[in-house]
Amino acid sequence: MQNIPFYQQAFVDYLDGYIQDKEPQSLYQPINYILQLGGKRLRPVLTLMAADIFDCDHKKALNAALSIEVFHNFSLVHDDIMDDAPLRRGQETVHEKWDINTGILSGDAMLIMAYQLFENYDATTFQALAQLFSKTALQVCEGQQYDVDFESRDDVSISEYLKMIEYKTAVLVGAAMEMGAIVAKASQDDILNIYEFGKNLGIAFQLQDDYLDAFGDPETFGKQVGGDIIENKKTYLYLKALEFSNAEEKQQLLHLYSLKPSDQTGKIETIKEVFDASGASLATRKVIEEYTLKAFDILEGLHVSEEKKLLLKTFGQQLMNRNV
Ligand code: IPE
Ligand code: IPE
Ligand code: MG
Ligand code: MG
Ligand code: MG
Repeated sequence: MQNIPFYQQAFVDYLDGYIQDKEPQSLYQPINYILQLGGKRLRPVLTLMAADIFDCDHKKALNAALSIEVFHNFSLVHDDIMDDAPLRRGQETVHEKWDINTGILSGDAMLIMAYQLFENYDATTFQALAQLFSKTALQVCEGQQYDVDFESRDDVSISEYLKMIEYKTAVLVGAAMEMGAIVAKASQDDILNIYEFGKNLGIAFQLQDDYLDAFGDPETFGKQVGGDIIENKKTYLYLKALEFSNAEEKQQLLHLYSLKPSDQTGKIETIKEVFDASGASLATRKVIEEYTLKAFDILEGLHVSEEKKLLLKTFGQQLMNRNV
């Protein structure tokens, strides 16, 4: 086993070799731009680590890791259009830098490139990877649709929210790990557990993303702070704030989340105060920890050494405490 920066570097080196300047530039430049904009490379690192954990050379999982990262970046390009987001990783989003049509088609091409990368595997592995990928990618679409539908609903429940983030985010984290295990030809039991570990970590990860969207440092966060509030996203912070409010406060929140005012600064500040004062911020911190611990519990079922479990735990701890 290696440390986390090692896998990150191995992945980025491989990505650099994959990037090509091709015609038409207006299709490929945005693709190369988003892929090279950085990011945490969380999912591909998990794929490489999973392969290594099940005693396979991580290099064999590089194409699966790349597929997951290309798909993730495709989903971000389209997500930024849907969320009307100006910033990604501290830079302009693709549809802002170019235009919406460019974002749509470059995104479509990336989805195809993600599938194409499985052609590097033998038939049995190809089939297993493609099957998992198709199931996961459809769930991501379903999750994204729920996320958008919830913007204009005022009766979203916590369990609906949890299902939405499981689909839009967590299943891909689970799939990233499962792909590493598939390439490593791990046992069915281990494949199942590593997927569940990744999924629960992914739920904690999206909860943390929602938390940072409101409370992240604009200098380092890399996205527009308050973007979810502007878009009336029904996050855990919001749902808990509603739950903890009296009738009058509830009316105020519902009212603020039915508007999209042209000047959003006042709304963002008011809402953040409500999140803190109501106890919603604290409740969110708590649930992030709960899902992380649930993921750690699942790890216990894996047939691998304690040292390997510890590395995955360190990774999970870092995700829970991240500020980017
Ligand atoms: C952003 O994912 C989208 C979510 C699912 C929250 P990341 O936070 O992993 O984005 P990058 O790749 O590190 O920029
Ligand atoms: C994104 O969720 C999930 C997917 C891209 C599938 P968000 O909309 O919260 O992600 P960010 O905050 O824009 O990165
Ligand atoms: Mg978004
Ligand atoms: Mg979104
Ligand atoms: Mg977000």
